Amino acid sequence: MADPMKFRNVEVLAPMVRAGTLPLRLECLRYGASLVYGEEIIDRKLIGAQRVENHAFGCIDYVSPREKVSVFSTCATETKKVIFQLGTARAPLAVEAARLVCQDVSGIDVNMGCPKSFSVKGGMGAALLDKPEVVAEILTSLRRALPSEKSLTCKIRMLPSTDKTRDFMRICEKSGAEAITVHLRLRDERPAEPAHWDEMARVWDAVKVPVLANGDFFNRRQIDEFWKHCSEKECQVSGVMIARGALWNPSIFSRDPPNFDDMVKSYVRSAVATNSTYQNTKWVLSQMLAGGTGVTVPTSFNGISMKVFNRELSATKSMAQICTAFGEPHDQSKYPTRAHTTVFYKDFAFED
Ligand code: FNR
Repeated sequence: MADPMKFRNVEVLAPMVRAGTLPLRLECLRYGASLVYGEEIIDRKLIGAQRVENHAFGCIDYVSPREKVSVFSTCATETKKVIFQLGTARAPLAVEAARLVCQDVSGIDVNMGCPKSFSVKGGMGAALLDKPEVVAEILTSLRRALPSEKSLTCKIRMLPSTDKTRDFMRICEKSGAEAITVHLRLRDERPAEPAHWDEMARVWDAVKVPVLANGDFFNRRQIDEFWKHCSEKECQVSGVMIARGALWNPSIFSRDPPNFDDMVKSYVRSAVATNSTYQNTKWVLSQMLAGGTGVTVPTSFNGISMKVFNRELSATKSMAQICTAFGEPHDQSKYPTRAHTTVFYKDFAFED
């Protein structure tokens, strides 16, 4: 059985496509995140990938032999804390993908909340909210296939009524979910619309397994306010899941956060050390430097006005150039100036 306390009293990094890659996950763990969810990866994208130990960087990469890029990268530091999020609509594919990756992760989460059309058209993400029988089949099959110490969870959105949300949560629990995260928005609500924190008090006791709340935690004050709000309402929420707040500032998990410049530079060092592509690194950095609601971003970075600095960042075309812009050392021989994974796996001997 997975650790029954694993999802109790936790603050976790949410799954985020493009953002939740290895360096952001490691930074969030360093600042105190209890668990980190990886970006959603579709079952078919993972199936067929080969597990490669990348000794140069101390990482484990799941590499697609066709495209010769790493589909999912992880490392020993996070094995007990990383949850792999699957995009799936079919139990056999979900099982095949989960079996492939489960030795390197702490648990599997099924995405039942993504409203994007590519997801929904394929019967995945939020489409599953209308298909309880498919959800039951996916979760029971995964539970049967996974070793007992690996957790199985799901992330849902609110359904059109409280009763419907509660019923759906019960189906997830009955089918084997050990924790459920509720993104406190309806399927058609956009990220700019406020999350419905109040709904948590109406749904948390539908199930006995831990329930995590997601939506609009952008700073420490808001997180503490939410915990207080729950205890006043006697709502025993088990945890909070943070997406944009952690992308804009991974030290949101810390009670003793570093200053902004140090936080950003630390992310750059993690990205270099874990062999991130410059494109992904640059995108995450641009999000951090832009910030968003509820996050205070300084007007200058490294003593340069943010406007000028952003121009410098947007002109970078390699990891070496990113390091130079951020005043971080960079070993040119170890880190080539092209997308590293492509360079590393170009000549890799894949098994048939
Ligand atoms: C997301 N979200 C998301 N959700 C999910 O279940 N799987 C995913 O891969 C992604 N990808 C993703 C990428 C990016 C860039 C963002 C901003 C969001 C949704 C996310 O996990 C979360 O539910 C919402 O963002 C609401 O939480 P916040 O941002 O209000 O904390």
